[in-house]
Amino acid sequence: MEKIIIKGRERLHGSIAVSGAKNAALPIMTASLLTREKTLIHNIPDLRDVRTISDLLRIFGARVEDRGNGTFEIDGSSVHHHEAPYELVKTMRASCMVLGPLLARLGRAKVSLPGGCAIGERPINLHLKGLETLGAKIKLEHGYVIAEADRLKGGRIYFDIPTVTGTMNIMMAAVLAEGDTLLENAAKEPEIADLADMLRKMGAKIEGDGADTISITGVTSLHGVEHTIIPDRIETGTFIIAAAITGGEVKITNCIPDHSESLIMKLRESGLEIKPGKTTILIKGNGKIEGVDVETSPYPGFPTDMQAQIMSLLCIAKGTSIITETVFENRFMHVSELRRMGADIRIRGQSATVRGVGGLSGAPLMATDLRASASLLLAALAAEGESVISRVYHIDRGYERIEEKLSKLGANIRRVR
Ligand code: UD1
Repeated sequence: MEKIIIKGRERLHGSIAVSGAKNAALPIMTASLLTREKTLIHNIPDLRDVRTISDLLRIFGARVEDRGNGTFEIDGSSVHHHEAPYELVKTMRASCMVLGPLLARLGRAKVSLPGGCAIGERPINLHLKGLETLGAKIKLEHGYVIAEADRLKGGRIYFDIPTVTGTMNIMMAAVLAEGDTLLENAAKEPEIADLADMLRKMGAKIEGDGADTISITGVTSLHGVEHTIIPDRIETGTFIIAAAITGGEVKITNCIPDHSESLIMKLRESGLEIKPGKTTILIKGNGKIEGVDVETSPYPGFPTDMQAQIMSLLCIAKGTSIITETVFENRFMHVSELRRMGADIRIRGQSATVRGVGGLSGAPLMATDLRASASLLLAALAAEGESVISRVYHIDRGYERIEEKLSKLGANIRRVR
């Protein structure tokens, strides 16, 4: 079992490049199932989740070749198998995004139903309702979703909640459906627009992505494509907070500052000096952070995927902050670990009241999910003494070589077995 050991209180300084976005890479790799031709995808991050989706695509009969330097070639010419097994889906919920493409390409899909997860119940009822509207027959048997359709037909779908992977799933199904599809109250995350860009280059007809109404006109086939994944806005945000929490001076490169707008505004409100450029963000931390209130919401609101990380920062801010989580019902798993480091946090329902303390102290810590583990890592960077984080496989799901990147900025961090 690997662990990450951090000795805190080193001010970070220097420049760091952001990797490709995990949450764009996963659907975009999945979208390669929609064509018999080859797709060439660049800027794919080296992550556990990417290895999981590669394994899944191989099970369906695709050839997935890692060409190095973040470039993957995927050949979907011999895709024939339609079953996503429990063993893979249970390790990564995003696997359920193969439902739409498999249905569109093969007319059937059998995908293990993802269970609840550490941050909440996370049902996929809206994915299934959307596919049914497009004409799929869906049944649940022995823990699997079984979906069938001769050819999907366009339809009008209103999402009760703007779901990110749900919007992507239905978008991938609708591009090969007969006729027009309208997605209303769709999610607006930049990763959806990146997927739409790739699909358009493959010959799909999609308009409105990035807004809450997306219209799609189905085509009979899609062709091969070359595409570069957008930078990861959550990794970007995590580095911004790493700089802030250590009072460091860091230039983040290869990012899209607009995608981190809500975080940047919030951190400015807390007194941090942040200068966004075209593809860079400069952070000058002075160690003086004021408490601020944060409420998560779908994009362009404050991302739930940054809630745990900003909480670590606010633990050592001046004054009191109230953090309200509105997207997931159980996303405060990091709180009890932060308390063990000396943080003063009280939870009531969906809100956490964080009273800033003078400093945190290093401790043995347990990662519980991807972003919670990032928050522990950030808190450890600011804490006095040593922290040992176990279950780091959660971090490796979504952060590429995190200890290597942070140690280049001067962090005292290492991985041990
Ligand atoms: C995606 C992201 C995840 C991020 C989340 C919210 C990927 C691979 N993952 O997850 O990192 O934290 O968006 O920004 O992109 N819901 C339903 N029924 C459904 C679908 C969703 O009730 O069928 C609810 C969820 O329980 C949640 C809310 O809708 O409360 C939003 O979830 P959703 O946007 O679907 O999250 P994911 O796509 O799973």
